[in-house]
Amino acid sequence: MKVEINGMDANREALMQRCREMEKWHRLLMSDDETHLGGDFKGWVRLPRDIDRELVERIIETAEDIKDKCTLLLVVGIGGSFLGARAVIDALSGSREGRPEVVFAGFNLNGAYMSKLKKRIADESVCMCVISKSGRTVEPLLSYAVLKDLMFVKYGQEEGRKRIFVITDEKKGDLRREAYENRFKSFVIPDNIGGRYSVLTPAGSLPVAVAGHDIRKLLDGARSMQCGDWTAEGGLITYGAARTILQEQGKCLEIFEYFEGNLEYFGEWLKQLFGETEGKDGKGAYSACLFFSRDLHSIGQFLQQGRQMFYETIIRVAKSDEDAVIPQYAGYPYAGKTMEQINGCAEEGVVRAHRKAGIPINEIYVDGLNEFTVGQMIYFFEMSAALSAYALGVNPFDQPGVEAFKKEMKSLIEKL
Ligand code: PA5
Repeated sequence: MKVEINGMDANREALMQRCREMEKWHRLLMSDDETHLGGDFKGWVRLPRDIDRELVERIIETAEDIKDKCTLLLVVGIGGSFLGARAVIDALSGSREGRPEVVFAGFNLNGAYMSKLKKRIADESVCMCVISKSGRTVEPLLSYAVLKDLMFVKYGQEEGRKRIFVITDEKKGDLRREAYENRFKSFVIPDNIGGRYSVLTPAGSLPVAVAGHDIRKLLDGARSMQCGDWTAEGGLITYGAARTILQEQGKCLEIFEYFEGNLEYFGEWLKQLFGETEGKDGKGAYSACLFFSRDLHSIGQFLQQGRQMFYETIIRVAKSDEDAVIPQYAGYPYAGKTMEQINGCAEEGVVRAHRKAGIPINEIYVDGLNEFTVGQMIYFFEMSAALSAYALGVNPFDQPGVEAFKKEMKSLIEKL
């Protein structure tokens, strides 16, 4: 992975200064000290290197067991207990051949959506994995209750219990009790890892492994980033440094862009990661995600000439080998070129046009989309988000705003 920062020439000095500050935060994050701001939630920082190898093998074994039992895995969760797994599976082009289809639930309260799942449970061979760190979140718990009922009706208690898996906190929460009472197989989301940083825990890795992707390689990629050069001179830190400076200069919107449709849910994961990590005390940038070429033909005009309150972060994925040659067609001039060649021109063309318009652009170069590079991206953005929050002076690992909304919703439900 490579990072290039554009449009910061007038801020070179400030950028270096910010990189040096972030280097200190990085050292503190990597240390054993847990007394600093957010210090009790940094379990993800050393996870790729320190992960329990036996746990990884148990996850893979369980994934194989699920694969042998079903054609459809329902994964029930929301926020950090949903987006990471979905982002990785989508980035890697969905479930591999011969693996169960992984379908997500619990991230909405839509009756029609549940109705469709009900039909699928009736028609297919199904397993379910419910994920909630707190074990208290309304959306997944309600979906779980409905789906568990259907599974037990279809399979009976004994077989049903072998088809339901729980991923939650080690000791607390309703789901832990549920797993214990029903003798469901369960995995733990460690206490010191918050939802949006949990994709490399069983919350992400079990669904990813069921879909047939190699979680060892995912961890290898993350580990390579963990061991990357996060010093002021190393380059990796410059992205976080640049984005915080731009925010302080009034750029309140970060637009993530990609020409790779499989990154759409990775974009959703980024929105949560940055939104919840730094959106506090009136700080942070609102994250938006755009898939090009599609969105060039809708929001492209605004980007080029609209109100300049944003900066861009473009994820530039090396072109895949899968391609199609353009045939001779009614006088079109591009015959013989490939789609990916033209896509490359679109990508470079956008960067040039936006640079000319004076838009600050961070470029993140990724060497294709596979388990290793997705692991790299996960760790890179996690670390960048955490360091950015520290630079902005907020705790990266809490989310009091989300809690406030949950409280209001519950009080309304209680009045129903
Ligand atoms: O980042 C977070 O902690 C939150 O967005 C949670 O992931 C989300 O609210 C779901 O919580 P839980 O896993 O406890 O159901």
